[in-house]
Amino acid sequence: MENAVSESALNQLFLKARTYNEWSDKTVDDSTVRQVYELLKWGPTSANSCPARFMWVRSSEGKSRLAALASERNRPKILAAPLTVIVGNDLSFPDTLPKLIGERAAEAAKYFAQPGVTESTAMRNGSLQGAYLIIAARALGLDCGPMSGFDNAGVDKEFFAGTRVQSNFICNLGYGKPDSPFPRNPRLSFEEAGCLV
Ligand SMILES: Cc1cc2nc3c(=O)[nH]c(=O)nc-3n(C[C@H](O)[C@H](O)[C@H](O)COP(=O)(O)O)c2cc1C
Repeated sequence: MENAVSESALNQLFLKARTYNEWSDKTVDDSTVRQVYELLKWGPTSANSCPARFMWVRSSEGKSRLAALASERNRPKILAAPLTVIVGNDLSFPDTLPKLIGERAAEAAKYFAQPGVTESTAMRNGSLQGAYLIIAARALGLDCGPMSGFDNAGVDKEFFAGTRVQSNFICNLGYGKPDSPFPRNPRLSFEEAGCLV
């Protein structure tokens, strides 16, 4: 296929990309963290709303605070990973629209202020940005371990106090131990997952 990325890129991003449960000691430096964001930020969101907010937790103190709010099975994974990102949705995302879409901001903000629309827009697009995070990290050679087994309200209080950011999921990032993914499970076939009409 013309313009398709190489087979090795497809392997790295999708076909051989796995969810890691254990981590090597290799750290993720500041410049790599920033590069992940500099890629993921270009993924599309509705009206360029960019509602995701990212708390990059790398300090041992931050890790302890986060691990304390995770399920027992997820706790050791957070503590062992060099970096854990909390992906949140900012319900105040309309406030940043003037920077993001200029003169269209007022009209869009009015639309997003309708009942239920703020939340659904933030969740839809924040989740997309979380997915872009995974793909960007993999593109840069990092491994990922996304997780939702934690106390969302507790994390919001601990990490996003005084804001309208609501945690969505967390994602361990680093260099995974090769044997740590669980056995690969199948996926639905094209026909099971949809149809071409
Ligand atoms: C949003 C999300 C939440 C997840 N929550 C957890 C979790 O709480 N604990 C865990 O061990 N794995 C969790 N996982 C990992 C999934 O089970 C794993 O990504 C999936 O089975 C695919 O595995 P594979 O990438 O190795 O094929 C989560 C994954 C995603 C995307």
